[in-house]
Amino acid sequence: MTAPAKDFHGWVAHDAKSPLTYTTFTPKPFTPTDIEVRVTHCGICGTDIHTLRSGWAPADYPCVVGHEIIGIVERVGSAVPTLPSSPASRSIKLGDRVGIGAQSMSCLKPDCEACADGQESYCARMTGTYNGRYADKSKSYGGFAERWRGPAHFVVKIPDALPSAEAAPLLCGGVTVYAPLKKYGAGPGKTVGIVGIGGLGHMGILFAKALGADRVVAISRSSSKKADALEGLGGDAFIATGEEKGWAKNHSRTLDIILCTVSGPDMPFAQYLRLLKRDGTFVQVGAPEDALPPLMAFSLIQKGVKVTGSSIGSPEDLRQMLKLAEEKRVLPWVQKRAMGEVNEALVDMHEGKARYRYVLQNGEAQAKL
Ligand SMILES: NC(=O)c1ccc[n+]([C@@H]2O[C@H](COP(=O)([O-])OP(=O)(O)OC[C@H]3O[C@@H](n4cnc5c(N)ncnc54)[C@H](OP(=O)(O)O)[C@@H]3O)[C@@H](O)[C@H]2O)c1
Ligand SMILES: [Zn+2]
Ligand SMILES: [Zn+2]
Repeated sequence: MTAPAKDFHGWVAHDAKSPLTYTTFTPKPFTPTDIEVRVTHCGICGTDIHTLRSGWAPADYPCVVGHEIIGIVERVGSAVPTLPSSPASRSIKLGDRVGIGAQSMSCLKPDCEACADGQESYCARMTGTYNGRYADKSKSYGGFAERWRGPAHFVVKIPDALPSAEAAPLLCGGVTVYAPLKKYGAGPGKTVGIVGIGGLGHMGILFAKALGADRVVAISRSSSKKADALEGLGGDAFIATGEEKGWAKNHSRTLDIILCTVSGPDMPFAQYLRLLKRDGTFVQVGAPEDALPPLMAFSLIQKGVKVTGSSIGSPEDLRQMLKLAEEKRVLPWVQKRAMGEVNEALVDMHEGKARYRYVLQNGEAQAKL
């Protein structure tokens, strides 16, 4: 076997404004607990856009984004088959089809409450799949590349029944909606509202239905996605907040759970809360670059509602979510793009054109250079 390459090729961001360039970058050193994959697919998540333009905070350029990665395992560290932290990762073998989501490391220490509870995404020392640093200070690089390398603990096997392009968006967007829907009881007897029908939101409708919620209401700014939400994705009702006069009053006290995926700060927060029933739960997963709108205390007081947030999901959540997706055929709506078209796809994503997730595919990339 030839010696593994030191550098990887991928689509690198050098600053907040310029298009990505296809060049080399240096991945983390390969350790015995790592896995290396040949990337076949990678979804484009809203977080990629926020990060590339340094929307939340200055990004650590050079940066390679992409954290909805599907790849084929080409290298397995010698300690992976006995990995103490993850029995599930021990069985990963050369040639397996695997996925990597938005997190690639956490402290994994027994005295860390989050890690010990299997809640790795809430570890204070979590490492994002890109724009992060591992304990040895090396940078984390994502999936807009030919290869990915990182800790086996955060690599999950993809069930055979899920096609790669459709499986990719499940790795970040899918688990980000699945984990809170599950945690807050979306299921029989419950009505669920999904706000923002984009990548996360359309998967929110699919998963709320798959979990057995009685009624799933899609909440969007206009009616342009109504037919998709009701006829294609299986939603039961639709609210176009920019078009229906008095919508918050008309539909007040109708929802047990609201999952809000909105990525812009100018959302009608207090009006969304009016839709909750007494004791209802509002879960924010969208991460706007500015503060959320202010709230009068009465929005919380009057019905005893809860406002919370949720961060991706643990490797165990990922495995459970993939199992449910396999059993119930939860397949995100994807539009495949060649990896070499990444800059065009990012512009389209930013303009809200995705229906509902762009998935980059390697293989055609070279032809486009
Ligand atoms: N919490 C987490 O762990 C986590 C994980 C992944 C992503 N995220 C965040 O989730 C957000 C959504 O990601 P995505 O990939 O789903 O993005 P996306 O495909 O662009 O979808 C975002 C949706 O939000 C709605 N929207 C956008 N701007 C809005 C505004 N100003 N007011 C009201 N609605 C607006 C739109 O839906 P309509 O057209 O239907 O109104 C849009 O389709 C991003 O901020 C991302 O960073 C968080
Ligand atoms: Zn993401
Ligand atoms: Zn930890």
